[in-house]
Amino acid sequence: MNTLLVGYKAKDLFAAAKHGRTRTAEWASADGVVAHTLDIYDRHAIEKTHHIKTLCSPHLPAGRWDKVLFRTGPKIMSGELSLDLLQEIYALLGGNMKAPAFVLDFVGRERDRVSLLEKVSAKGMRPRTFAAKWKASVPGGPEIELVSHPGCFCHRRVDAGGLALAEVAAREISDAPARFLDMGCGAGTVGFLAKSVHPALDLVMVDSHSRAIEAAAENASRLGFACESILSDSGIPARMDGSFDFFAGNPPYYSDYRIADLFLETALRALKPGGVCYTVAKNADGLRPVQEKYFGTSETIPRRGYGVIRSVKR
Ligand SMILES: C[S@@+](CC[C@H](N)C(=O)[O-])C[C@H]1O[C@@H](n2cnc3c(N)ncnc32)[C@H](O)[C@@H]1O
Repeated sequence: MNTLLVGYKAKDLFAAAKHGRTRTAEWASADGVVAHTLDIYDRHAIEKTHHIKTLCSPHLPAGRWDKVLFRTGPKIMSGELSLDLLQEIYALLGGNMKAPAFVLDFVGRERDRVSLLEKVSAKGMRPRTFAAKWKASVPGGPEIELVSHPGCFCHRRVDAGGLALAEVAAREISDAPARFLDMGCGAGTVGFLAKSVHPALDLVMVDSHSRAIEAAAENASRLGFACESILSDSGIPARMDGSFDFFAGNPPYYSDYRIADLFLETALRALKPGGVCYTVAKNADGLRPVQEKYFGTSETIPRRGYGVIRSVKR
């Protein structure tokens, strides 16, 4: 039986086994069970702890699925991402959203579960697009239009921290050709805004989320910007070669500074001597000591209620 798990993280797979009405040990070794993740970090975490084939991609894998288990709820993902994935599941199952083909593993209030299930009632699902287009610019630059999709950080709008970072970096960069690494790029706001005023920038974007990389690639092509986009949760291991002139990162802070640490370690190894690292945080005083661990010194440039932290590689 081909079973697809959607929305599960490594820690949830025991719950998935329960919903699949099979024991965990059988589940873990069962042929035909595939877990899907949107973030490559979640794929690696599942592969480390379970013997389940795991795929990471921006969309659910096509194929003949006998059963789809979908774990969702307001604390797990946004309502839009939930509906977007539900729509993809509906298409994969040919509209058969009844048990046992479809199991909704909902974490949240009963009335929200019922309301979500009503969206796939007998009347079927009305296909919707959840893509959003929005505009952003930096002083002296053109307005550029960016696209994002549910699952992308700050879907539907520019993030004020990302904009502050782009404004400071764009102001300080010269027009000479230079290599720019945008780590945790999301839809690509920071790198594309910098390139909108400095067309000679050679951009590399990296993110652990497959929908971010999909959006960044889509935006590069819509803007006519050459750009390499890389899906990775461990920097750019093959390219930490000291060849970059600039690094920009707006790291997430949900894991204290674990991810900021990874961003800064990548920055140090990717930048050439004299290369400049910019990060941004609401609480710059908290991030500065982490940045100084790698770069020795730093300065904070206040912007839009955020602190952009600048360091130079010696
Ligand atoms: C705060 S968002 C910033 C997005 C974008 N740069 C902006 O400013 O709008 C942080 C981004 O880091 C990504 N991220 C989280 N962990 C990561 C990792 N280990 N490696 C690369 N990117 C990561 C997230 O997927 C998210 O897109």
